[in-house]
Amino acid sequence: MRQPLVAGNWKMNGTRESAQLLIKGIINGMAGVTRAEVVVCPPFVYLELVGAALQGTQIPLGAQNVSKEEMGAFTGEIAAPMLKDVGCQYVIVGHSERRTLYGEGDQLVAEKYARARKEGLTPILCVGELLEEREAGTTEEVVARQLDAVIDLAGVASLAESVVAYEPVWAIGTGRTATPQQAQDVHAFIRQRIAAQSKEAAEQVRILYGGSVNAKNAAELLRMPDIDGGLIGGASLKAADFLTICQAAN
Ligand code: 13P
Repeated sequence: MRQPLVAGNWKMNGTRESAQLLIKGIINGMAGVTRAEVVVCPPFVYLELVGAALQGTQIPLGAQNVSKEEMGAFTGEIAAPMLKDVGCQYVIVGHSERRTLYGEGDQLVAEKYARARKEGLTPILCVGELLEEREAGTTEEVVARQLDAVIDLAGVASLAESVVAYEPVWAIGTGRTATPQQAQDVHAFIRQRIAAQSKEAAEQVRILYGGSVNAKNAAELLRMPDIDGGLIGGASLKAADFLTICQAAN
């Protein structure tokens, strides 16, 4: 059985004070969440502060991005060993906001994924199609291309210990969620594509759904057989809503 996973992607939000309040609220509400794993991904500058609050809890810390380089003269970048150094266990790679707003392509994302793994971080690899791609009927083609870039570089076996997040771009921050069946169809497609090369990796990889998941719609999405959890944006900024989603995953 795959352990359910809910990850909160705080994106570029918050202050020291609000981050502190949010993480305290989450920790205080975790009592009933015994089965699901819960991860929080604050902005880089708040990682240490949130990490300190997480000491002694079961909640792993994650970052939102990582450099493909090991270390060195790359102004403004953050290296995987630095993320390890401040206590991260997870890192999001290839989020659609990075792909579309900052021009990260499949190859770069695959290199970030490989770097994260090499340094002992668990990547949360985001894939997903744009609205025009869905309307053109190319969803599977796009997701396959994004996935294959990683498989080609890092090997299919690596996925057994990694996380994939299917986030249709048209559903992110729009309030327009994919239906449970729409999400399930793409999740099943991702798992089948991995299974074609490794049944074991397909069986083990956790595939999260992301895109306007909230306290109301989480349960019906998480009930689908190939949806192993959620990657939560807006709703992860409110402790009560995030905890309701964690309970649903649990
Ligand atoms: P929203 O939950 O705000 O739609 O964001 C989803 C997302 O991009 C998580 O990475």
